[in-house]
Amino acid sequence: MSDLRVGRCERVEIGNVRDIPVGEGRAYAVAEEQVAVFHLRDGSVRAVGAICPHRGGPLADGLIDDAVVVCPLHGYTYDLITGTETANDGAAVCAYDAQVDADGTVRVSARGR
Ligand code: FES
Repeated sequence: MSDLRVGRCERVEIGNVRDIPVGEGRAYAVAEEQVAVFHLRDGSVRAVGAICPHRGGPLADGLIDDAVVVCPLHGYTYDLITGTETANDGAAVCAYDAQVDADGTVRVSARGR
C-alpha cells in the first residue's frame, strides 16, 4: 500500500480492482479508518465506512446494487455516494472518494466526507 498526494487531497492505494469481485465489497484499513470498498458492475468503485453504526455489522459483506449497500445483520441501507442511511432513519456512515486508475489501481481518499 502506498500514498499519493494530489494537492491537498491525500489518496491511499489499496490494491487492484481485480482483488474485489464484481458486485462485492472488501474491507481495508485506510489512514487508520476501516473502509468498505465495493466493485460495481460498471467497473467503478465506491467506498464507505466498514462498520455499520447500528450495531457494528460488517458492511463490506453486505449486498449492493449500483446505489446502496444493505447491512447483512439487520438490513439498514446506506447510500454508496453520501453514506446516508436510507431505510430506517439511522445514522450515516462516512463516504470516501474512490477511483480506479487505467491499470486497475484503486485509490481511496484518506478522509471521509
Ligand atoms: S448492525 Fe447493521 S443494520 Fe444492524
